[in-house]
Amino acid sequence: MLRFWECELKKDAIDLLVVPVCENAEIHARGTIKSLAEHACKVEEFTGKTDEEVIFYKSHLTKAKRVMFLGIGKKESLDIDVFRRFAGKAVKKAISKNIPTVVIAPPSAKKTEIIEETLYRALFEGAFLGNHIFDLYKEEKKHSPLSTISLYVQTKAADTLKSLPEEVESVCSGTIMARNWVSIPSNDKPPEAFANMILEEGKKAGLEARVFDEKELEAMGCGGILGVGMGSENRPKMVVLEYKPKRADKVVALVGKGVTFDSGGINLKPGTSSGNMKIDMSGAAAVAATLITCARMKPDIHVVGILPLVENMPSGSSYRPGDILKSYSGKTVEVGNTDAEGRLILMDGLAYAEKTYSPDYIVDMATLTGACMIALGEKIAGVFSKDEDLAERISRSAKRTHERCWKMPMPEDYLEKMKSKIADISNISESRWGGAITASLFLSEFVKTTPYAHIDIAGPAFIAKANAYCPPGGTGFGVRLLWDFIDNL
Ligand code: BES
Ligand code: ZN
Ligand code: ZN
Repeated sequence: MLRFWECELKKDAIDLLVVPVCENAEIHARGTIKSLAEHACKVEEFTGKTDEEVIFYKSHLTKAKRVMFLGIGKKESLDIDVFRRFAGKAVKKAISKNIPTVVIAPPSAKKTEIIEETLYRALFEGAFLGNHIFDLYKEEKKHSPLSTISLYVQTKAADTLKSLPEEVESVCSGTIMARNWVSIPSNDKPPEAFANMILEEGKKAGLEARVFDEKELEAMGCGGILGVGMGSENRPKMVVLEYKPKRADKVVALVGKGVTFDSGGINLKPGTSSGNMKIDMSGAAAVAATLITCARMKPDIHVVGILPLVENMPSGSSYRPGDILKSYSGKTVEVGNTDAEGRLILMDGLAYAEKTYSPDYIVDMATLTGACMIALGEKIAGVFSKDEDLAERISRSAKRTHERCWKMPMPEDYLEKMKSKIADISNISESRWGGAITASLFLSEFVKTTPYAHIDIAGPAFIAKANAYCPPGGTGFGVRLLWDFIDNL
């Protein structure tokens, strides 16, 4: 639980007080905290460099059982994410020491030159996200999350930001929900089971939700979803979540790639390449969790989440290279490679979104291409949009949430490489270069006029090693980003 708490440092029982210390500047304004930080800086081996740590077990200045000082580096490099990371690390250190609660002492907003609300939000976010442990599959739970995380803030200041702790909890619970779904192994989340998980959470949050099964998808003409789903015993589904407030002047449709396992299909992935392909539903997880976040936060915007869910498997009933699939839009697609399956399920989802809801914006999120990881590495998502305003909005949200995005080009002439001799288009390019771009051009063929952006999250959807505020596994990338985008429309 997050809260503001103006405690009495000399009287109240505090398990752990955490104080950030800057390498080359004084950042605290409150007497006791300032003095504590000054004492810490007298410790020879502690200079305030990032990740340095010193703990006092006794101080005449406070009754806290422990005071931990964490270095946050130089003043010039202080930004919002430094504080998210600081708070995440503080919480993780407490967890590893089995300390049940922490009080974080924020620096002065003035001295750090960050707006108070932004600073507190970042600290709450880092702390809440850092408090997440994925131990669903461990019999022995070695550590438990903290029960209470407090920000030591004057009551007067806290009063004007009363709703902030709950707001951060709502949004970051969405990120954690997506993380968990991504980290769950494919044997426990085939399309039907994953659909049920989404439905359960969606209904709990008060969303309208429905699932289309194979027969319905057939009647609708979703040849992409059905084609990709052919090879698996686990039949495809499409979930539609809807958040529809009474007053709404805009409609946003979000589409998420939900491949619960991507083996590559008949074009089987080589060697160890499929080892991590349980994460290929990260886009759907992010979109579903964003819709649930909307149900909690109640923006005045009509938001729809469209989630095609399939398992891409090789078998006697699989779709094959050379097959031609008819998409929901009516366009036919020649399958050049069964491993380029994401675009085949998204093409149905995108066209369905536009036709059914006439939205103001369509955004899809997908672990679409290895090529995007080659281009941008593991931490940055690619944004593909022909609509400058939409791309700019996403880029501004990405800066605020530190879910980093980079706008990529969409040169029309690259589409020439996706021609098919006998169908309207092919699902692969004849060239191996620029694979993330050609994939995005393919997708944009299925959106006629709506401002549309595709976000390729193949890199940042997953981390093998923990970072400051995320354990190894699914990162929940995109939930805070999409929420921020909606919140700022
Ligand atoms: N799911 C993969 C993309 C992926 C790769 C996601 C690595 C996360 C990590 C996607 O379905 C795929 O296999 N794409 C192919 C496309 C190619 C066959 C045109 C790729 O990127 O190689
Ligand atoms: Zn694939
Ligand atoms: Zn895939």
